[in-house]
Amino acid sequence: MKALVFGGAGERSWDSVSDPGIAEPTDVIVKVDATTICGTDLHILKGDVPTVTEGRVLGHEAVGTVVETGAAVVGLKEGDRVLVPAITSCGRCAPCKQGMAAHCEAVGGIGWIFGHLIDGVQAEYARVPYAETSVHLLPEGASDEQVLFLSDILPTGYEIGVQNGGVGPGDTVAVVGAGPVGLATMMTGAIAGASRIIAVDLAASRLKHAEAFGATHTVLGGEGAEERIDEITGGEGVDVAIEAVGIPATFDLCTRIVKPGGTVANIGVHGAPTTLHLEDLWIKNITITTGLVSGSTVPTLLQLVRDGRIAPEKLGTHRFALGDIMDAYDVFAAADENDALKVVLTS
Ligand SMILES: NC(=O)c1ccc[n+]([C@@H]2O[C@H](COP(=O)([O-])OP(=O)(O)OC[C@H]3O[C@@H](n4cnc5c(N)ncnc54)[C@H](O)[C@@H]3O)[C@@H](O)[C@H]2O)c1
Ligand SMILES: [Zn+2]
Ligand SMILES: [Zn+2]
Repeated sequence: MKALVFGGAGERSWDSVSDPGIAEPTDVIVKVDATTICGTDLHILKGDVPTVTEGRVLGHEAVGTVVETGAAVVGLKEGDRVLVPAITSCGRCAPCKQGMAAHCEAVGGIGWIFGHLIDGVQAEYARVPYAETSVHLLPEGASDEQVLFLSDILPTGYEIGVQNGGVGPGDTVAVVGAGPVGLATMMTGAIAGASRIIAVDLAASRLKHAEAFGATHTVLGGEGAEERIDEITGGEGVDVAIEAVGIPATFDLCTRIVKPGGTVANIGVHGAPTTLHLEDLWIKNITITTGLVSGSTVPTLLQLVRDGRIAPEKLGTHRFALGDIMDAYDVFAAADENDALKVVLTS
């Protein structure tokens, strides 16, 4: 089969590799019908993720059709259309039983194994371990594109932003960073009942998208952003400030705009230390949360898609055939230039 193979920092190719086969009785093999590229894949290609070794097939977001099942698989059969989520859940270990598959202990102590510790889904076929406890059957009538982004960024925004932030009806929420993850956060924050959603980004092109994802206000990031948010909230601050960039400046902004008693929910992956200004924050009665997505809300999100309450397919701005994935990477890597949110690859 063909697959997108990591060849070390800066190196990727659309190569012929061996077809995956059943290795464990709990595996299934899926034919990949739709997949996408994540910012994390770009990090891997920069050489930022040393646990990804040369020769690894990348990708951790897919919709596929089951073509083969392991001996222990009883709840899935050939022909089933499934969402393959970024996070694998063995269903047996303590973190999985607590609904925190992010820290599943079965393979390498982390739930994110596709395109990381095992071969991923940017390929014609993929081996899916612990399939019964990991994949989700597609709702009747749902298209691949409608559910594809439920493999990673929708549950990330919902679980790590909206739920960790405790967003509830009537809340004023700021989402700092209006990339795909920030936009997914806005979409699910609106469903959770936020009455005001303030999108903050340095890029006007991203803010333009934000309104279609539920933002009620947009604020250009950088200098003046804090003052502008102050104006919008009448000096009160926001109930929930969600960080969806991953740099010190935006985390710091979140701690300054949150109101007393509010919550700062960090989603961003940080590569550098951030100063926590406890000299100002100790008196604010705030909560700060962090986390890696587990995917525990995917069933809920699938219902919301089924019933037309959310339309995650809006995140797909560029479409390619799977065989043109090298071009898709070029477009996604220059997302700003191309006004790209997510690329959709279909076989
Ligand atoms: N916690 C998790 O489980 C999890 C899962 C997936 C992704 N992430 C992380 O979420 C973050 C967002 O992901 P993404 O794919 O949307 O990234 P992205 O790079 O596409 O988007 C980030 C956005 O932040 C904006 N930005 C940059 N600097 C800014 C500033 N100073 N002020 C305001 N906006 C600024 C950019 O213009 C961009 O629109 C990343 O750090 C990613 O690694 C976390
Ligand atoms: Zn991802
Ligand atoms: Zn587990």
